[in-house]
Amino acid sequence: MSHDHKIERSLPWTLIGVFVFFMLAVAVTLISPRFVDPTWTHETSHYQKQLYEFGDGRVFISNSVTGTYDLQFVNWLEEGKTLTAFVENERQKIVAPEALKSYITKENEPIKLTSHLLLLKSPGDIYKAEVEKIQVELKKSFIKSQPEWEKKGLSIPAFDVFELYEPKEKEAFATSSTAGNIEDYIDQNFLLVEEQEVKAPGYFFARNPLEYRVKEVETPIGKGFRYSPQGRSIASLEDLKKLGFWSRKDLIEYGERIYAIEGCWYCHTDQTRTLVQDVVLNGSDSYPAPPSSAGEYIYQNVTFPGTRRIGPDLSRTGVKRPSRDWHRSHFWSPKTASPGSVMPSFQHFFDDDPRGTPGSKAGVPNLRFEAIYQYLMTKGTRITSPSQAWWLGKDPVKTKEIIEGLDR
Ligand code: HEC
Repeated sequence: MSHDHKIERSLPWTLIGVFVFFMLAVAVTLISPRFVDPTWTHETSHYQKQLYEFGDGRVFISNSVTGTYDLQFVNWLEEGKTLTAFVENERQKIVAPEALKSYITKENEPIKLTSHLLLLKSPGDIYKAEVEKIQVELKKSFIKSQPEWEKKGLSIPAFDVFELYEPKEKEAFATSSTAGNIEDYIDQNFLLVEEQEVKAPGYFFARNPLEYRVKEVETPIGKGFRYSPQGRSIASLEDLKKLGFWSRKDLIEYGERIYAIEGCWYCHTDQTRTLVQDVVLNGSDSYPAPPSSAGEYIYQNVTFPGTRRIGPDLSRTGVKRPSRDWHRSHFWSPKTASPGSVMPSFQHFFDDDPRGTPGSKAGVPNLRFEAIYQYLMTKGTRITSPSQAWWLGKDPVKTKEIIEGLDR
């Protein structure tokens, strides 16, 4: 029985050993990354933070029935939380009461921003004469710049005149010109109208926000609504959500769940490795793509780096394939978009379209489609701001040299 005695004596040491190794493992996996490499725990750029934390929560998207396939984008503006710019160009002018004139950026001026809540709308009656005068002038200067316009088969473009005004409430809803790919960011080169400290990121940026008003419309596939200057204005966020709007942030999170549920990760990876084949395939014609960094994923609840590539890597899809139309036809029928594709079609991302003629039965994209599309559009688009993007020549990790064999 002397054996048993020996085992009992070593038991405390065994337990201490197990405990020490356990704590060591915890320290290595949870604590040390914070000290090892900041890119593991921090966003890759201020731009990424600005989009995820401010931009996406303030962009609302609805694909409710409008009689067309158009998406409706609305920005949620709040006093003190948004920066706006009101910029004129040769097609678009702004009228305003004397007190607000200083907020308008004329053509060729550096962009002026304000954190004060201001908005554009269709000009009121008191501006009628002024607007007509501006329209005539714009038309004249177009004809002057294109004297041969009739011969060339050009038509006189539409000129817009808007009124700048101050909404009574502390929040407002504005249509956004963005077409799916969000590019709201604040460049270094701006001028703030008020003397005030502005910390960017930390603000949502909207250029020429136009008051969002809706009008109910009848379409062949049921009741819907769309933007109309004569429609009713949106009073609150609840009001907007009742129309079926989702914030872009919510769509992205839903898209991430769909990616998991549908098993996209079974055939696709979400990582650009440092290997030549990855950075070239995921890059543009002239520049390789930057390899993935850990910071790119910090806003995801689940990451899908993946191990198998039955289909192409998706970590730069937002840059490589930004077109919503392309993804629409690809999810509806991958074989028509890429002949020979083994990707299954995802027709439950679409609702039936009773207008569809037997020859072309394409469905109407539903919420699942918008969610997976918005999720895919975050891939690769958030590394740097559009003004300094890698596909414009930025080469952050010398991938070009690596490809040309100058650097290993
Ligand atoms: C059975 C494997 C498989 C599954 C599952 C799958 N795909 Fe694919 N996917 C492919 C293949 C193969 C291609 C390349 C041919 C093509 O474009 O269809 C592809 C292409 C793509 C492309 C175009 C990429 C590019 O750069 O050209 C996207 C985007 C995409 N898939 C997204 C998805 C999403 C999102 C899901 C889940 C909802 C998914 N795929 C599920 C196999 C798959």
